[in-house]
Amino acid sequence: MQRTFAIIKPDAVRKRVAGQILARIESEGFTVRALRMIHLSKAEAEGFYDVHRERPFFGGLTDFMSSGPCIVLCLEAPDAIRKWRDLMGATDPAKAADGTLRKGFGASIDNNATHGSDATETAAFELGYFFRGMELR
Ligand code: CMP
Repeated sequence: MQRTFAIIKPDAVRKRVAGQILARIESEGFTVRALRMIHLSKAEAEGFYDVHRERPFFGGLTDFMSSGPCIVLCLEAPDAIRKWRDLMGATDPAKAADGTLRKGFGASIDNNATHGSDATETAAFELGYFFRGMELR
């Protein structure tokens, strides 16, 4: 078993498709180990995306991520990191394969509906950023 960190981003919550994304998460075989809805401050979004601080899209990304509530999750499955990234599809919804969440629910590379950790180290950092140990038991 492996755990990964996921976000249902503010665009998906605003469009009222969070429930559809959650249903898909469950039907694809993930166990939801932890879940919370939060409205990130700009500073909290900046801390989360610190690795992207020097990228040109950092300001827009952190404005967007603090623009409304999102849902943060701990997902568990065999090979969860890769499996969740496959289900999300390419970062840019225009390039995402049919049947993926970003193809179905994303509108642009910024408004791309979901986030997922890209490696075990980032999953550990990202889960720890949002969840206390006792929530992940
Ligand atoms: P996410 O998986 O949350 O990780 C960083 C986010 O930055 C990414 O999804 C995109 O929504 C956003 N982003 C905006 N522009 C780019 C870009 N050129 N390359 C990668 N990510 C980008």
